[in-house]
Amino acid sequence: MNPTHMKNMTRSLGFGGCTLLASATAVVFQFAAAAVPATPALRAAFADDFLVGAALNPAQIDGRNAHAGEIAARQFSTLTAENDMKWQSVHPQPGRYEFKAADAYAEFAAKHDMKLIGHNLVWHSQTPAWVFQGEDGQPATREQLLKRMRDHIQTVAGRYKGKIKGWDVVNEALADGGPGILRDSPWRRIIGDDFIDQAFRFAREADPKAELYYNDYGLENEHKRSNCVKLVRGMIERGVPIDGVGTQSHFQLNSPSLADVEKTIKDLAALGVKVMVTELDVDVLPSRGNMGNADISRREQADASLNPYAAGLPDDVQEKLARRYADLFGIYLRHRKSITRVTLWGLDDGQSWLNGFPIRGRTNHPLLIGRDLKPKPAFFAVLKLGQASRP
Ligand code: G3I
Repeated sequence: MNPTHMKNMTRSLGFGGCTLLASATAVVFQFAAAAVPATPALRAAFADDFLVGAALNPAQIDGRNAHAGEIAARQFSTLTAENDMKWQSVHPQPGRYEFKAADAYAEFAAKHDMKLIGHNLVWHSQTPAWVFQGEDGQPATREQLLKRMRDHIQTVAGRYKGKIKGWDVVNEALADGGPGILRDSPWRRIIGDDFIDQAFRFAREADPKAELYYNDYGLENEHKRSNCVKLVRGMIERGVPIDGVGTQSHFQLNSPSLADVEKTIKDLAALGVKVMVTELDVDVLPSRGNMGNADISRREQADASLNPYAAGLPDDVQEKLARRYADLFGIYLRHRKSITRVTLWGLDDGQSWLNGFPIRGRTNHPLLIGRDLKPKPAFFAVLKLGQASRP
């Protein structure tokens, strides 16, 4: 493939007339050679398999970063607001709802024929403190908090009724360890373990046609996975309206194992619910441990040795990343009957939360598209698999 051909191909992918990173060209060439596309977008390549999506931010959809918006619309069939539908964003104070930012995602999705995913209704994080407060400095009562939860869900899910494919109704309610199944959150402390059931019932009431999901990270860990299975099985037995489970999939280059990734999908699918990969990324930076724990409150001490790719990702790591993504999408394709969506947690490396987690100010490279908005070898590896899967 000559440079002109490569340039034309990247333009047709929605990336504009860019030339690819010189250091990555050899690897790109290797993956792209068999993938010269008739329908050169991820959303077309996976159209018969599952939705493919990205979490987006305001600048990408409101025209401030028009090129990024164009790429998102061209490449992806679904989008999730990375932050702007969370409680803190849409309902910052009692009785005051702010929908301007969230509405923009609904408009962008409709305009570009993308499915809109709501993220999220009930979470312990990014929920303002007032939600859990009662009278005279006391915590809210169970009745107060249930009423707040119902009002919130009615108002937010009600607003996007008919515009949203599905909601992450409850996010990250499972504990990462310890004897109990559930995380010790204010929702659970105040309402009790049934806060999850209640949230799903309120969501079904607010938007009977939206799919309702439980969403969590670290389900590839055997302990957490079996607790998730127990949780969801119990919900199904109690007649709680749950349609799917999202395995967030914040991964590293070598962890979790592919066997655990596949087992997680199988175990969740065996419950008879839809399975979604909801927040996929692959952290390429060294870590002190505690891998797979995407709890946003977790912090680690900065250290220059833990930020080795500030000047760019070396070819060999770029290739490892491409292979990791190819392995993952290979599994997703094998389970395409159970998997309805694969969403990446960000459009491009520059946007990724992993530049700030668990250490602030690092340069991470976890996605398919680089911070220069150019497709990476991993992009072509995934595209090639999608195209090969077409009938
Ligand atoms: O918008 C404010 C800005 O006004 C302020 O100046 C700046 C100062 O820090 O903060 C900005 O808010 C940040 C927000 O992202 C928007 O950029 C918050 O500090 C920051 O904590 C927040 O991080 C988000 C994180 O959730 C926290 O909830 C990440 O972008 C987002 O990717 C991440 O997403 C979560 C999923 O919702 C659930 N699963 C795990 C995943 C990764 O943590």
